[in-house]
Amino acid sequence: MANGLDDVVAADTVLSDVDGVGGHLTIRGHSLAELAGRWRYAQVVRLLFDGFFDDLPGDAELEKAIGKARVEVFDRVKPLLAKLPRLDIYSGMRAGMAILPDGDGLADALRLIAAPAVLTAALLRLGQGETPITPDEKADHAGDMLRMLAGTASPALAKALDSYLVTVCDHGLNASTFATRVVASTQAGLTSAILAGLGALKGPLHGGAPGPVIEMLDAIEASGDATAWLSDEIAHGERIMGFGHRIYRVRDPRADALKAVVRQLGSCNETSSRLAFAEKVEQAALDVLRIAKPQRSIQTNVEFYTALLLEAVGFPKEAFSNVFAAGRAAGWIAHAREQQATGRLIRPQSRYVGPLPDLVA
Ligand code: COA
Repeated sequence: MANGLDDVVAADTVLSDVDGVGGHLTIRGHSLAELAGRWRYAQVVRLLFDGFFDDLPGDAELEKAIGKARVEVFDRVKPLLAKLPRLDIYSGMRAGMAILPDGDGLADALRLIAAPAVLTAALLRLGQGETPITPDEKADHAGDMLRMLAGTASPALAKALDSYLVTVCDHGLNASTFATRVVASTQAGLTSAILAGLGALKGPLHGGAPGPVIEMLDAIEASGDATAWLSDEIAHGERIMGFGHRIYRVRDPRADALKAVVRQLGSCNETSSRLAFAEKVEQAALDVLRIAKPQRSIQTNVEFYTALLLEAVGFPKEAFSNVFAAGRAAGWIAHAREQQATGRLIRPQSRYVGPLPDLVA
């Protein structure tokens, strides 16, 4: 068996399906195209949570409950905030989330939805020497995340961020979701399960890729020759961030969903020239990868346009993985509940290939 568990089916799920050949993502019976840019994040949280919590309210009430959860999380983490900026922004968020109660109820789940938004904004402000902004429980989640970050949130930027959160809310049994399900299967609480997801998401082969995409774009801009820069990276055995996927053999449908959001934003600010440049880099990368790795179809993945979108709405690249976690928290929680409901501990086997003990005669 391959070390990466390729093609192993480790769970039955009603939550999402990734069709890597056709390039389709289905979330609880809806195509990504139906959801992205049309549904609000709170609606998608409801969609994913449906059937996993007895007391789940309707869309409008849930949006309010998420707002209340932001305020509650802010109050809980406030005494800790001054110590967290010593950590990198992702570790700071994870440390703040680790102090949340470890239950299995809706209130626990909503705190975990709220926490990445609250902590990321507060930690970014503290890192700039500014005071954290108290959440506004009446605001929508994405809009409040931007308001807590910058003091104001334009409706266009809030909508763009909301579309991003929806687009990344769930994606089959990816590494962080699997990690979440493994911990949930032990009947540890939701916070423990989500902390496992956070650990897995951080790596550059998973949710840590979009920050390096910005570094790549900046380096290519400075070098002036995308093809030469990318070819040199491949020649040195490096991976091109924002390209390739374990499941997709075609273009990741989330890449186009996010690119469309960036394009809309481009009509009202300088994002348009950044997008035009990124499109040229994308084409150069696809050409270089096709020649360098002819045996493998390596296409654009979600992270490439994630980087552009999150940059455009005002996040520094160091916080991109935090925002990914803010969206994916919904999927993690739903998967954790789905796994808990099976009552089955995930406990695979390993094959021992080490030395045998000396047999004593
Ligand atoms: N750049 C360069 N080469 C890549 C590549 C990339 N982005 N993605 C895959 N490859 C190459 C590998 O080097 C390998 O080549 P080889 O056979 O000559 O050794 C081949 O494609 C297969 O790689 P493998 O690691 O088996 O593919 P995978 O399906 O497990 O990889 C990723 C999936 C996501 C880990 C991989 O594509 C990657 O590292 N991408 C860059 C990071 C990224 O964007 N992550 C976000 C994912 S959403």
